[in-house]
Amino acid sequence: MALHRLTSITMGVPNVAETAAYYADFGLTPDGDGWFTTQDAGRQLRIVHAPTRRLVEVRIGVDTPDDLAAAASRLKRLGIESIVDALTLITYDRTTSVRAVLEVAPRLVQAPVAITAYNGPGRAQRTGARAPGVLRTSRVRPRKLGHAVLGTTDFDATTAFFRDGLGFKASDYIKDHGAFLRCSTDHHNILVLAAPVAFLHHSSWQVDDIDEVGRGAAAMLEGNPERHIWGLGRHHAGSNFFWYLKDPAGNFSEYYSDLDCIVDDQLWTPEVLEGARGLFNWGPPPPPSFLAPEDLAALMAGSHSESR
Ligand SMILES: [Fe+2]
Repeated sequence: MALHRLTSITMGVPNVAETAAYYADFGLTPDGDGWFTTQDAGRQLRIVHAPTRRLVEVRIGVDTPDDLAAAASRLKRLGIESIVDALTLITYDRTTSVRAVLEVAPRLVQAPVAITAYNGPGRAQRTGARAPGVLRTSRVRPRKLGHAVLGTTDFDATTAFFRDGLGFKASDYIKDHGAFLRCSTDHHNILVLAAPVAFLHHSSWQVDDIDEVGRGAAAMLEGNPERHIWGLGRHHAGSNFFWYLKDPAGNFSEYYSDLDCIVDDQLWTPEVLEGARGLFNWGPPPPPSFLAPEDLAALMAGSHSESR
């Protein structure tokens, strides 16, 4: 695959300091100039000022400069201009104004996490000891950025931009509404969602296992119960365990583990999901504010008054 990883996202928010403090709490490490690093993949989040919250930029790693040229010609066929230099391609999705940058970058190789020993019927993998998940005391720190979810007023055009232009592959669809797209072996790195306004729905961050999903969320909620949005549950598309929280700008942030991994494209058949399956497999029902964030009307008003 020419595209091989989601390297970073930039989010624009009106309240930079407050939002930055939240992501430090979330377990990302401040690295200067608005950047935050993850444990395994360096600078993966940048927070900058914007009049209303939005996804400003997505950066995607590719193997070689030839991959940039190939993407430029695919974009051209869609009537989309791009600027290519030695190591990057820069372009924009017209509908959402998101800047996409393809960059020649090394592939991410993560050190394998130790297998958590879970006991089951007839399978006592852990004897004479408490579960590792109840013994951990260190703060949860995400391993890497997993995906970003982008609301768009033109679902077909934004999906075509990422899939047919940049070269993402489709893993699954939500009927008429969502496209789970990957630029790596992760089930999805971008989810394009039909919405009444362009906005960043959430960013998602990989942790070691389900205990880390629970421990991370519990630590975020201690003293800040208003941060809770939805969890614990398991998605159907991508299969991952999830817990969603809300940052002070209104963006959701997700801890996830155990995401489906697509190594051989021939062995994966995309499905068109309908109803609840498009959202989750098990867990509490999602709150209405997950489906339609409370500030959508304000974002729509803001996007009309902003000069673009
Ligand atoms: Fe997600």
